[in-house]
Amino acid sequence: MSKRFYITTAIDYVNGQPHLGHAYEKIVADVIARSRRSFGQEVFFLTGLDEHGQKVQQVAVAEGKTPQAYCDDLAPVWKAFIARLGLTNDDFVRTTEVRHKTVVQSILSKLHAEGHFYKAIYRGFYSTKEETFLTDKDRRPDGSFDPSYGDVIELEEENYYFRLKAHQQWLIDYIEKNPDFVCPESRRNEVLGFLKHNVLEDLCITRPANRLNWGIPIPFDPDYVTYVWFDALVNYISVPAALADPVAARAVNYQPSTINYPLSAWPADIHVIGKDILKFHSVYWPIMLKAMGAPLPKQIVVHGWWQKDGEKMSKTTGNVVDPIAVINEWGVDAFRFYVIRELDIGPDGNWTDEGFKARYKAELADALGNLVNRSLSMLKRYRNGVVPSQSNELAADAEKVVTETRSLLEQNQLQSALQTIWSLVTRANQYVDHTAPFKLAKDPTKAARLDEVLYNLAEVCRILAVLLWPFLPETASKIYAQLGLSGAPDKFAAAGWGGLKAGHSIGTPAALFPKKEP
Ligand code: MSP
Repeated sequence: MSKRFYITTAIDYVNGQPHLGHAYEKIVADVIARSRRSFGQEVFFLTGLDEHGQKVQQVAVAEGKTPQAYCDDLAPVWKAFIARLGLTNDDFVRTTEVRHKTVVQSILSKLHAEGHFYKAIYRGFYSTKEETFLTDKDRRPDGSFDPSYGDVIELEEENYYFRLKAHQQWLIDYIEKNPDFVCPESRRNEVLGFLKHNVLEDLCITRPANRLNWGIPIPFDPDYVTYVWFDALVNYISVPAALADPVAARAVNYQPSTINYPLSAWPADIHVIGKDILKFHSVYWPIMLKAMGAPLPKQIVVHGWWQKDGEKMSKTTGNVVDPIAVINEWGVDAFRFYVIRELDIGPDGNWTDEGFKARYKAELADALGNLVNRSLSMLKRYRNGVVPSQSNELAADAEKVVTETRSLLEQNQLQSALQTIWSLVTRANQYVDHTAPFKLAKDPTKAARLDEVLYNLAEVCRILAVLLWPFLPETASKIYAQLGLSGAPDKFAAAGWGGLKAGHSIGTPAALFPKKEP
């Protein structure tokens, strides 16, 4: 049983509406997952929902439902959302599932027995919205708390705490010795700065059940439930443990009753997350794992946040991008293309409808769509759709792009990979313009030259399908089908030059990206 390449996304709060930010993160993870599978690696790709906590309890009560019924109603909406994005996740976790709750409790029991927790009274200012105590560091210069914290109340509460101080130095050393642990570098520096300039406060890991009961009960004290983050982060290891991953199961002290799916996934290779939850993933999560005796994830890939038209997206002002509406109008691949091509993993991004339409027209319809359509239409018209003998005029250009794309994908440089792939699209479009096959077709003495040109164009289209598979799976499949090839272009190894054989009959060309009225 070889270890799978294990990639996760943040699990979304069930009570929000799926939006552009959620979609972006899931697509980033999906492109990485698909590319690794295409390289021949076995992959385990996990995403899911974060369902406990005060906010869910409050909304459920307001809607006259139990929190569980509320979550059960919303989970299918989220599952349909990710299906519409074309995700290839292998599992979908809900933190209300027994398999997850059992593992959270098992970890709590183990760490409690080993003396990692203590109980103490804390008096302070509490943000109900953020479900967290605030400190003086959270105050604005005038002493008030930012309105984004919502109502802030003074609260005295006894809770369980996780001892963190002993973990500070090894974590600093670890992040320094492992430059790729937190990516990009700016986020790594942010974590190191935080760890070096602050004394880590112990982490409160419970909430009293009489104030909040929508959470996982603490196994050693019925008066408490688990704090949302100690619950949510565990999803990354609870699912492998439940699927009988030996490393995960040992670390969380849990033996699944039925070993029907022996998985080897832990440690995770990549956690894809947004910048706002960096501290939870690069400070608390590694410490939790170290305390459990589990190997740490290999990499935390941190993406930026999307705005719309230069402003924060907000339902109240209507300044939102609804991914499903965009997909319904333009197709899933146009959406996947825009978010990956527009925004590199790291900085913040800005969605504009004009920017989206401009990329659709220039890069998808006029560049890629036109290349495939005219290449295959000419092959159909001039050679009855039958592939001529192999010619290698564009082989070196294609091979260079294939090698570069692979290397960029291996480094999760998704935006650059798309740029590289488009350099081949541009090269092939220029080749059409320079060789002018429509003129060659008029001159019978140029038949051999026309054969060469048509072969090179069709072969570039085939290679593009393979390269595009992780990003634009529907389009890649359509190109394959139009080329008359069976199966999916899902094996990177097929990107070598010369895959199209002389005498092969292609299918029917059709527009990949229909032009839209302005
Ligand atoms: N439930 C927690 C995560 C727990 S992970 C163990 C959570 N949920 S969330 O629904 O608020 O956010 C889910 C992911 O979406 C986070 O990684 C977050 O950064 C990302 N995004 C939310 N809004 C975003 C944008 N506007 N732009 C890009 N990503 C954003 O946090």
